[in-house]
Amino acid sequence: AGRTAVLRREAVTATVPVALAALFVAAGPASAATAGAAGVGDPYFPLAGNGGYDVRHYDLTFRYDPGNGRLKGKAFLTARATQSLTRFDLDLNGLKVTGLTVDHVKAHHTRDGQELVVTPRHALRKGQEFRVTVGYEGRPGPVTDPDGSLDGWIPTDDGAFVAGEPQGAMTWFPADNHPTDKASYDFEITVPKGRTAVANGVLLGKRTAHGQTTFRWRQQEPMAAYLATATIGKFEVRQYTTRDGIKVYDAVDPREAEAAAPVLKKLPSVLEWASDLFGPYPFRAAGSIVDHAPDVGYALETQTRPVYDAAPDLSTLVHESAHQWFGDSVTLTSWKEIWLNEGFATYAEWLYSEQHGGTSAQQIFDGLYARPASDGLWEFPPGDPGSGANIFGTPVYARGAMTLHVLRKAVGDRAFFRVLRAWAAQHRDGHGTTPQFVRLAERQSGKDLGGLFHTWLYKAGKPGKP
Ligand code: ARG
Ligand code: ZN
Repeated sequence: AGRTAVLRREAVTATVPVALAALFVAAGPASAATAGAAGVGDPYFPLAGNGGYDVRHYDLTFRYDPGNGRLKGKAFLTARATQSLTRFDLDLNGLKVTGLTVDHVKAHHTRDGQELVVTPRHALRKGQEFRVTVGYEGRPGPVTDPDGSLDGWIPTDDGAFVAGEPQGAMTWFPADNHPTDKASYDFEITVPKGRTAVANGVLLGKRTAHGQTTFRWRQQEPMAAYLATATIGKFEVRQYTTRDGIKVYDAVDPREAEAAAPVLKKLPSVLEWASDLFGPYPFRAAGSIVDHAPDVGYALETQTRPVYDAAPDLSTLVHESAHQWFGDSVTLTSWKEIWLNEGFATYAEWLYSEQHGGTSAQQIFDGLYARPASDGLWEFPPGDPGSGANIFGTPVYARGAMTLHVLRKAVGDRAFFRVLRAWAAQHRDGHGTTPQFVRLAERQSGKDLGGLFHTWLYKAGKPGKP
């Protein structure tokens, strides 16, 4: 709807005399205000995110009762309009909205699937900063992804496993639910005494009263909504500060504690190793959440503090740690470019193995390359998975990592590691795209790499021997 209105207005101004057109424009931004789009135009998830504004900050306050699965909360969003807006959407899946204000004035709102459509009393001017308050409650549950996996708020026997990649953030808070919009976060989560609520960033405080404990967390560096967590359970907690001054908070389900301990102990050395290779760790906080969530089947690199469905092995810890640079700090702008996350995190596993007396990256590459052309590894190219159902497929992870290995062989170790560090540094706390990565690699190496990336990222079928 927004688009047609804009086009119509341009058509009018184009046919009237210049002076009149100037008058028309002078009539003010309100006359040009249109509805924000229902999505940012991601081809794999058309309704993810919203048009017309950017969220600066989320302030999420809620209580959760694991006994009956009910959540009751209030979300305060600070946003800036990127176009003049008659109305805009937030993403919210399920849950009931009990009140909504824009700049402290009650706003009209309706629901349309995952879209929460907000019409403020007065149109918003382009560039205007505004505040949205949403009261909401209900029994949150996960969304089913195109590949059949669950994501979002996943209740467990003692709390909830909360991981939102790619679209689950909207199952527990009203969000601009696409990675293009990063924001800072404050969380204030109240749970029954004896449960722990773990979110991203630094623990600001914890207090217990009337049998309820409130945890306050702050994620200061910008974060994509899919990387937010508020995992709840009966956890054993360990806190310490690394030699680099990073605040570590580990929360572990006692059923996983014995298996997890030797791996979690390695987190500081893994982060130091990765910092040597990729540049300084991008956040002030770190840690691990090890849940016992048998129906989940994956871990997620939730920002600063990955969440695991069970005790991870070391390779998985390395993978989720590498995502802090690749995915979390440097974030993709379209789900189609998921190889920028998964290819990089997988290649980090290979590098870790190679540099710690395990199989070398070359050996892992050779083992994969030996797979026949009919193998699932070659089913689709990692730079163009084709649909949201394939974003976590083997080609994205393995052939994505193979692409980086082929790059490394082509440009040599010095240039290759310079590229990885420059990538993390230049796009820190921001976004990066595949064309930007290709350009960077070409600049750093002085080589034309168009053919290499075309073959490994975009060409269907098994590539010829590199
Ligand atoms: N990014 C996660 C990892 O590879 C995987 C997330 C899978 N999510 C899902 N809904 N299946 O570390
Ligand atoms: Zn990953």
